[in-house]
Amino acid sequence: MSKRFYITTAIDYVNGRPHLGHAYEKIIADVIARAHTSFGEDVFFLTGLDEHGQKVQQAAAAEGKSPQAYCDELAAIFKSFAEKLNLSNNDFVRTTDARHRAVVEAVLASLYAEGHFYKAKYTGFYSTKEETFLTDKDRLADGTFDAAYGEVVELVEENYYFRLKEHQPWLVDYIEKHPDFIQPASRRNEVLGFHRNNVLEDLCISRPASRLNWGIPLPFDTDFVTYVWFDALVNYLSIPAAHSDPAVQAALGSNGRNAPPIHEVQNPIALWPPDVQLIGKDILKFHTVYWPIMLKVIGVDQPRQIWVHGWWQKDGQKISKSTGNIVDPVAIIDEWGVDAFRYHVTRELDIGPDGNWTEASFQARYQADLANGLGNLVNRSLSMLKRYRQGAIPGRSDELAPETNQLVSTIIQQLRSNQLQAALQTVWSLVNRANQYIDQTAPFKLAKDPTQAGRLDEVLYNVVEICRILAVVLWPFIPSTSLKIYKQLNLSNTPDRMTEAEWGGSTSGHVIGELAPLFPRKDLAHG
Ligand code: MSP
Repeated sequence: MSKRFYITTAIDYVNGRPHLGHAYEKIIADVIARAHTSFGEDVFFLTGLDEHGQKVQQAAAAEGKSPQAYCDELAAIFKSFAEKLNLSNNDFVRTTDARHRAVVEAVLASLYAEGHFYKAKYTGFYSTKEETFLTDKDRLADGTFDAAYGEVVELVEENYYFRLKEHQPWLVDYIEKHPDFIQPASRRNEVLGFHRNNVLEDLCISRPASRLNWGIPLPFDTDFVTYVWFDALVNYLSIPAAHSDPAVQAALGSNGRNAPPIHEVQNPIALWPPDVQLIGKDILKFHTVYWPIMLKVIGVDQPRQIWVHGWWQKDGQKISKSTGNIVDPVAIIDEWGVDAFRYHVTRELDIGPDGNWTEASFQARYQADLANGLGNLVNRSLSMLKRYRQGAIPGRSDELAPETNQLVSTIIQQLRSNQLQAALQTVWSLVNRANQYIDQTAPFKLAKDPTQAGRLDEVLYNVVEICRILAVVLWPFIPSTSLKIYKQLNLSNTPDRMTEAEWGGSTSGHVIGELAPLFPRKDLAHG
């Protein structure tokens, strides 16, 4: 059984509807997943929902619903959102799934039996909003806590703790020896800096059931429920377990551990370890400190790479439901199409830095890159082929082959290293080159001169072949547009194999299909 390329995203809280940040992360994961499919790999792309915890319990209560009914409603919305984004995910985890819960329980029971947890009393200041105890380090200069923490109360509480401290030297060593583990490098440095300046605190992994009941009870003490982060992180393992991944099953069932019952009968597939785990910068510590230590004690390999993306703002301000400063991905997709949205977020932001959404830049990019760039190239190339050659592809010409092949190999390299923004820039240098070639060779003039028929054939072959290649290299990014280009070329397969980007795939004499504009020009609201 060969291991699949396994990619995960953070699982979203269901305390509201999906927003731009959720959409962005899932789209870039989808681009990476599709790129690996296109490289001929078997891919497994996991995304889903984080449904337990206080925030969800409160959101459900505010709507007068039971937490489960509330989660079920939002899960339906998030699932249809994933379809709207055209995600190619292979599974969708909900932390209320029985198959997930069984693995959380098995992990907790094993680690407890092996002595990784202890019970202790703690007195401290607690932020109800953030579900976290605060320390003196969290105080502002005037001694108060930031308003973002909401109401802060003093609490004495018994809880279970996960011994993390003793693993800190190992973790630092691991990160130092695996320079690719945390990406981009700036985030790796941030994590190493954290370790240099802090002795790791043990992690509280429970909440008293008297105060929070929307969670998974600790299997060894049902007066407590599992802290939502411990529960949530396990999703990356519970789904491989549900698909009978051999490495995960072996670890969960090793050394007298009681392996979780498998709720799904599936053909076993090998997923572990994850190849890419994509997360936002705010949850870096959970994924690069707690998560690796959890995996170490569970006894499975570490993920190969954790990729940390930045956060979007809108018009230079924090995106916030309460101030109404939001970007509604569904409204944008309904108006402009899913590919315009997918293209903009991937092209605007490299994986790492923060981004800023403005309607003006979205619309300007639509007009320049999609309508006037790619759309115009495909439309005029195929229209000329129809007009001058009844849609039949002329004999092969390799005039633009060397530079196209060069650009394609750069795109492949960039996709392999998750440089998605740079890959799109390279794709557009091909779009621009082809548009410039049409302007320079002026096929409309060649068509008027019968002695130039051979030259016109060459030009038409080159531009049509570039349109075909563009469909292939763009498939990870804007798959519906790629399909539309293939359909207009009268090719019935899906352009989902990078090997098809090799020059010379267009067959002489093949007659193309019906044309339709890819990105209709729109009247701009701005500029
Ligand atoms: N449920 C936790 C994650 C658990 S993973 C085991 C969570 N959920 S979340 O809904 O708050 O965030 C989900 C993802 O969306 C996170 O990776 C987060 O960084 C990302 N984003 C949320 N808002 C964002 C922006 N404004 N911009 C970009 N991504 C942001 O955290």
